[in-house]
Amino acid sequence: MQQRPLGSQGLTASAIGYGAMGTAFAYGATDDTESTTAIRRAHDLGVTHFDTAELYGWGTGERLLGKALAPIRDEVTIATKFGFTPDTYRPNSQLDHIREVVDTSLKNLNVDSIDLLYQHIDDPEVPIEDVVGTMQEYVEAGKVKYLGLSNTSPERLRAAHAVHPISSLQTEYSLFARESEAFFPVLEELGIGLVAYSPLGRGFLSGAVRPRSEYDADDMRHMHPWWAPEHFDENKHTADALAEFAAHKGISLSQLSLAWLLAQRPYVVPIPGSKNPDRVAQNVGAADVTLTAQDLAEIARIAPTGAAGEQVWTRE
Ligand SMILES: NC(=O)c1ccc[n+]([C@@H]2O[C@H](COP(=O)([O-])OP(=O)(O)OC[C@H]3O[C@@H](n4cnc5c(N)ncnc54)[C@H](OP(=O)(O)O)[C@@H]3O)[C@@H](O)[C@H]2O)c1
Repeated sequence: MQQRPLGSQGLTASAIGYGAMGTAFAYGATDDTESTTAIRRAHDLGVTHFDTAELYGWGTGERLLGKALAPIRDEVTIATKFGFTPDTYRPNSQLDHIREVVDTSLKNLNVDSIDLLYQHIDDPEVPIEDVVGTMQEYVEAGKVKYLGLSNTSPERLRAAHAVHPISSLQTEYSLFARESEAFFPVLEELGIGLVAYSPLGRGFLSGAVRPRSEYDADDMRHMHPWWAPEHFDENKHTADALAEFAAHKGISLSQLSLAWLLAQRPYVVPIPGSKNPDRVAQNVGAADVTLTAQDLAEIARIAPTGAAGEQVWTRE
């Protein structure tokens, strides 16, 4: 699969990456055996960039991903994130907490070094310069290779980059979530890549969306505005129209959604998540889809601005 640069420091990622959040968190029941097969199928099909976080099951997700990738560790890059307090789920980038979490992530993943370490979310109580200074300690110790920020602002990204080069901004970006486009100027100025999280709109753009009442009780989509009764029908109408256009092109809605992201900027790397090997294969197929200018115009006509209902993280 084609590789894309993430930043200007040498890190590259497969055009389509893999997001492991759902293997341990957020979207209902999990099955470790199936998730492991899904992760390995992604690699077999050319995916080399895998994303997880402490938050995804407080170590469970990291351990699963580390185990699945152990036999092919040298062929892949692994990203993980710190930045929350387990009991409250509130931001926590206190410097001692960062060190504790990163040391534990190295053990959970069972790796000598983390390829890409992110601060998961801004912590208003800790200056970003101090956060990045602490992340930099790990780079200097050879335990982290590249640095990233997630769920941040252009101003904080700029301040962080002045302390140590930032290779990747991880932010929500999909046909339904367009606020991240405001980062394009600063990313281009500083030479930073964009890892697009929830690129299938948390499943809304997967072709398998259901009303929230049909998801497991612990599924995060129960709280998501796109699934709220006042927005669901309008968003479903848009997703159905996109699916119809995708079918007309002989591809799936998930492939259309991911190919659209790849067409936006050459430094955008979507990391779709799926616990299912066949759905992973479908998503990876997006790397071979080329959308023409006419296709992009039709998609813009159907979905000009994103979903009805707020994005979740960017309003916080
Ligand atoms: N930095 C952050 O704050 C942040 C926040 C959210 C996510 N992320 C990262 O981004 C990754 C991806 O985001 P995401 O998991 O939220 O959302 P997503 O990739 O937009 O969508 C995932 C959902 O779509 C379903 N799905 C995926 N491919 C499908 C297909 N081909 N057909 C039908 N259904 C399909 C998955 O179900 P199945 O598993 O059942 O296939 C899952 O319910 C995460 O895994 C995580 O690594 C980061």
